[in-house]
Amino acid sequence: MQHILVSSNLEELSRNAAAILLDSMREVLASRDCMSVAVSGGSTPTHLFALLASDAYRGQVKWERIHFFWVDERCVPVEDKESNFGNAHRMLFSRIPIPPENIHRIRGELAPEEGAGLYEEDVRRHFGCAGLPVFDLIFLGMGEDGHTASLFPGYDEIWNQDRIAVPFFVERLKSWRITLTLPAINNASRVAFLVSGASKAGIVGRVLGGDKTLPAGLISPAGGETTWLLDREAAATITI
Ligand code: 6PG
Repeated sequence: MQHILVSSNLEELSRNAAAILLDSMREVLASRDCMSVAVSGGSTPTHLFALLASDAYRGQVKWERIHFFWVDERCVPVEDKESNFGNAHRMLFSRIPIPPENIHRIRGELAPEEGAGLYEEDVRRHFGCAGLPVFDLIFLGMGEDGHTASLFPGYDEIWNQDRIAVPFFVERLKSWRITLTLPAINNASRVAFLVSGASKAGIVGRVLGGDKTLPAGLISPAGGETTWLLDREAAATITI
């Protein structure tokens, strides 16, 4: 099932994303001790992180019952400005009362295959699963080329493996990344895309128009739902 919600701007989009987190939290924690959320890197989520750390939201979230994961990581030290964990820690995790054991970062400072393998072990240990985990909620972004997480167009043989996470050298960025695989993302209960800005309008139109040559167009949780949180600029080429 797919929903599209268009906001006036990134601030309202981020508030809608926070509402999805709170709704999912209430639903999951009504029957389970904890929930699992995977977040993306890039710039769009930073507004959500700042919002969740604010006085208006910080007290509403049961941080001690939420485990946070990443959909991908750049293979750099956490101090590097490119580090997804580093940025999320600065904007959110350093400002909220969350137990350290609830934060499951991808160790981008290690050799890529080692970092990916350790992350898979951590995920399997948390979920107690031999196969793919079922994340309760995954926040995704989307690049102008239709990539999401670090699933870039033209490499589906790499990220379509039956693994939880894989290392991946992104030719055009000349850099290593570690990413959840497409099967791992599509095994989630709920996925929410956060996409903002006029530069994304064209790719939003292609993906929501059904272009399955793009990784973001292949995100479709079998047993779950996908919500597209767009601002007006990113939604300019679609009709709802
Ligand atoms: C990353 C993200 C990536 C991101 C998109 C959109 O590590 O960069 O996981 O998939 O979501 O590139 O990035 P922006 O939000 O900066 O546009």
